[in-house]
Amino acid sequence: TGYTALDYGFVNTAATKSDITFIDGDQGILRYRGYPIEHLATHSSYLEVAWLLIYGELPTPEQLERFDDRIRHHTLLHEDLKERFFTALPHTAHPMAVLSSGVSALSTYYEDESDPANPDHVELNMVRLLAKLPVIAAYAHKKSVGQAFLYPDNSLSFVDNFLKLNFGVLSEEYEVDPVMSRALERLLILHEDHEQNASTSTVRLVGSTGADQFASISAGIHALSGPLHGGANEAVLTMLAQIRDSGQGVQRFVEKVKNKEDGVKLMGFGHRVYKNYDPRAKLVKQSADEVLEALGVHDPLLDLAKELEEIALNDDYFKERRLYPNVDFYTGVIYKAMGFPTRMFTVLFAIGRLPGWLAHWRELHQDPKTKIGRPQQLYTGSPERDYPGV
Ligand code: CMC
Repeated sequence: TGYTALDYGFVNTAATKSDITFIDGDQGILRYRGYPIEHLATHSSYLEVAWLLIYGELPTPEQLERFDDRIRHHTLLHEDLKERFFTALPHTAHPMAVLSSGVSALSTYYEDESDPANPDHVELNMVRLLAKLPVIAAYAHKKSVGQAFLYPDNSLSFVDNFLKLNFGVLSEEYEVDPVMSRALERLLILHEDHEQNASTSTVRLVGSTGADQFASISAGIHALSGPLHGGANEAVLTMLAQIRDSGQGVQRFVEKVKNKEDGVKLMGFGHRVYKNYDPRAKLVKQSADEVLEALGVHDPLLDLAKELEEIALNDDYFKERRLYPNVDFYTGVIYKAMGFPTRMFTVLFAIGRLPGWLAHWRELHQDPKTKIGRPQQLYTGSPERDYPGV
């Protein structure tokens, strides 16, 4: 019938309007609701930015306090979920799979309060997800290392509580390291939104069907897990470790990438939108040096990453294709220094991205123009033919 434009990977097609995040990929600009990412990463907090993304303005101190307080009061998981859900899974389960299944499982406790058309339900479930996702994440971590789960300590801030849930041990005092706490907060802020990336588009597409927030966020977590998206932070560390263990050196690895041998890519490099630099990567690189020094960690993988970056930035292959380090290139080195296992890295990205997903889900439902997402295709298969014998 009518003309359908073919746009593999949505390179040229806008599926929506949005007031939330502005990106200028050529100039390396990222702003949440008009505020530069550099200001927010330096001066704000995870929950303040979450509020900003969701409601469009910075909260007043009273609004922020109430929001924070509400979230602290929703951190507990139902005991059945805490006791039985995680034990059913193997300790080898990937924490991203545990996280996304955990969100689906969570939805079963709130079926009577999950109507996307009811603003009270929507508000309540945003709070529930912000409060409980870090707890599910920490339990996924504890499960993988065979340690007991801790209850959330609601006297602590959002980030400190999360650190304690991950690194605290039953019956021992846990002292939060302020350097680690501030560094993690900063990284989470940097991840909070990134307009129509693959996972946010997934959340919007699922949300457009009328599915609730739990279903949409669970799908978003799955989309994020892929190595071309959030899974890249895990893949970078794996790649660095492989280069180190192969003993072949960085130059040889870069040659392999350029020759596209075995489909090898330089993980943590390149971006669909940023073609000069990723402003988040710039901030993360600064943090990597500061945090490792403050934590007293010397990691040869950081030296390797710097060497790799230096070689790639001066190589024609990468220059011609405008490939630069993205947000995932240096985050893993910091998470590793903090003590997170490699397989938890993308989970940290998911916690960071949750406010953006919630803001987009809400925006979608408030936009009267929203329709169910339903891409077109160009059919290239067989013309009509008869079933044998007919
Ligand atoms: N290493 C080597 N070559 C690359 C890379 C890379 N990381 N990224 C792109 N290229 C090449 C690609 O092979 C193609 O070359 P050619 O023209 O010879 O075929 C050219 O650059 C254009 O790449 P593309 O695949 O058309 O670019 P895209 O916009 O479709 O993909 C990307 C963007 C991020 C998926 C890709 O750059 C990539 O796979 N990077 C590695 C994975 C990664 O770090 N992902 C994290 C993205 S940032 C965090 C997030 O928001 O998810």
